[in-house]
Amino acid sequence: MNRYIVTGGAGFIGSALVRGLLAQGGRVHVIDNLSTGNLDNLEDIADQITVHEFDICDYDRIAPVIAGAQRVFHLAALPSVPKSILDPVPSHQSNIDGTFNVFRAAAEGKVGRVVYAASSSAYGDTPALPKVETMTPQPKSPYALQKLVGEYYAAIFSECFNLETVSLRFFNVFGPRQDPTSVYSGVLSIFLTCLIERRSPTIFGDGEQSRDFTYVEDVVKLLLKASEARGVSGKVFNAGNGGRYTLNETWRLLQKLEGVNLPAQYGPPRAGDVRDSQADTTAAVQELRHAPQFTFEQGLRLTLDWYRADVARKQGRVAAGANLVS
Ligand code: NAD
Ligand code: UD1
Repeated sequence: MNRYIVTGGAGFIGSALVRGLLAQGGRVHVIDNLSTGNLDNLEDIADQITVHEFDICDYDRIAPVIAGAQRVFHLAALPSVPKSILDPVPSHQSNIDGTFNVFRAAAEGKVGRVVYAASSSAYGDTPALPKVETMTPQPKSPYALQKLVGEYYAAIFSECFNLETVSLRFFNVFGPRQDPTSVYSGVLSIFLTCLIERRSPTIFGDGEQSRDFTYVEDVVKLLLKASEARGVSGKVFNAGNGGRYTLNETWRLLQKLEGVNLPAQYGPPRAGDVRDSQADTTAAVQELRHAPQFTFEQGLRLTLDWYRADVARKQGRVAAGANLVS
């Protein structure tokens, strides 16, 4: 039976990918230090997978797990732009040193292929839209640079160490299980939670910055395709939807979906923030058969339903706990 490794498998995208891999059959091992991830994300499938609570910076622990795997999906990283500016050391360690360890362990352990979660933040504020893979990167933050270094390592391991690698530049991914509880959380997880709780969100800057929001199930499908496509080793592909929405438009759309009027508050722009982001999907469509299935609005509705159900689940747990105590 095929053995798959998902680093960062207890996180938002990783836990969705684990479900995708289980659905196609195979044994899944998760490597995660639970720094931003959570075992709750894997609770309902815990008996079908093996979780290794290891840090990817610890080569000696992760190498034996990775050795001999069919495919490694390397998603473990500290994913926040502002956090990489406020506290750059941990994100440098996980995103560069840890990433090097994963590629090294995969090459030495004769892994079939590594698919690497790269980031559209690599484009920075290059003026042209949509962003094409051939543009010269202009990272604007430590995080963007770190993710770009990972891409370069992926290409070098393909070139020099006989390891098949593919890098997917995720654009802004959203969907169920994205953690909304941190100031560093993805904007849609925060917006959707505000909507459910009937609170106004804070928009950093004028709200006219735009993003190619991509539903997580479309990203999972592309990860699976990238793990099997032929003739793509060492390459980088955009993993976006091809659309673009400003934050102001997005918050207006969400209020309309719920029939509420909750004007956003505005705060100062964030350092390192990219202004506009939109994927050219041509290469991914042609070479990986990328076929996004969810429109932005469909994804938003599914995610809103999930957060609402999650609130109810958590309230149920609290009530059950209270009953036990009394
Ligand atoms: P997430 O924080 O939910 O998941 C990251 C996971 O990596 C977490 O479970 C965390 O505990 C784990 N991790 C972090 N450092 C680790 C370490 N040193 N050792 C072991 N595990 C570690 O974030 P996500 O949004 O699911 O992001 C997954 C990947 O996708 C990241 O590599 C991120 O850079 C990339 N990405 C995400 C987006 C997005 O919009 N969410 C866009 C572009 C790229
Ligand atoms: C996101 C991802 C990053 C990924 C990148 C790819 C997260 C946490 N970050 O970065 O991993 O590599 O996309 O493009 O998943 N904002 C607000 N109010 C808030 C929160 C955010 O206005 O409460 C704004 C930010 O200033 C930014 C936009 O929303 O302009 C998006 O922010 P965020 O969700 O943190 O994502 P990116 O920085 O784009």
